[in-house]
Amino acid sequence: RFASIAFATAIALFLQGCAGWQSALDPKGPAASELAWLIWFFTGLCAAVWVLVMIALALPLMMRPRERAEPLVIDADADNRKLRVVLTAVALTAVILVGLTLLSFIANRTLAAIGSDAALTIRVTGHQWWWEVRYEDATPSRILTTANEIHIPAGEPVRLLLTSTDVIHSFWIPSLSGKLDLIPGRMNVLDIKADKPGVYRGQCAEFCGAQHANMGTFIIAEPREKFDAWRNDQLQPAAAPMSDEAKTGENLFLRRPCVMCHKIGGTPAGGTVAPDLTHVASRQTLAAGTLTMSRGNLAAWIADPQGVKPGSHMPVVDLSGDELNAIVAYLEGLK
Ligand code: CUA
Repeated sequence: RFASIAFATAIALFLQGCAGWQSALDPKGPAASELAWLIWFFTGLCAAVWVLVMIALALPLMMRPRERAEPLVIDADADNRKLRVVLTAVALTAVILVGLTLLSFIANRTLAAIGSDAALTIRVTGHQWWWEVRYEDATPSRILTTANEIHIPAGEPVRLLLTSTDVIHSFWIPSLSGKLDLIPGRMNVLDIKADKPGVYRGQCAEFCGAQHANMGTFIIAEPREKFDAWRNDQLQPAAAPMSDEAKTGENLFLRRPCVMCHKIGGTPAGGTVAPDLTHVASRQTLAAGTLTMSRGNLAAWIADPQGVKPGSHMPVVDLSGDELNAIVAYLEGLK
């Protein structure tokens, strides 16, 4: 009895981890709901089969042992019965397997139909170890590039185009959809929809190197008007520095190697191999979910990127304390 109580408690504690903002068992959109239903159905059916098999194995063990020297009798009836049991088991297994395959197939069709009328297309490019997020638009001046956080309008289907520049990554927002790989030289299509506004965490789900674990992403679903306002804000060039310190920071930034990799709209900084910093301070996290956005964390990240995220491509830049403070003051103003 103690063992079964301990087992039930362990399972209950384990499943506790499945609630919240990153859980396939807590679906917040049609794709995730379809998948959660499949997960429960598959698990339930497999558990039932497992219990039946265990009973079938345990029964003979619990029967009384027969006499050793049982006389050898040819019993045609008993043999026929055994054959019928075996055939029934085989037929049942086949029916279950074909049934589960059909269910998967139907679910796949449902998932594929979610974004068929999507009005918004976002290209997500995997990098070691962050996500480039580009809002496609027929008007070139309306194309928007940001990083790691994907704002979408709630209640509307959105089409994501997934690709990578280096190795294979995998995009997975468990509360909203299944996972799909980002493969160099290939464009995969994933349609998602969030039923309600909210923040849903995602995680790279394909081992991609040292900082695979620190490759988080966030889907921020907002009401339409709020999303449109966000998008318009993000399309504006970077805010001009408000203080002398920030002004100094901007000058430092533009004279340092930072500009080789980062872009800041409205300034000569035009690098494209690292996250676009035009509105960096409007994001909730830094370094793909590694740190929350704050003055202290910005300073920590710039002062010691290899301490925060060993192996990342952000190099250590030689800066004095005053210079670091100035650059942080500048970046902090890029809302
Ligand atoms: Cu990217 Cu794991």
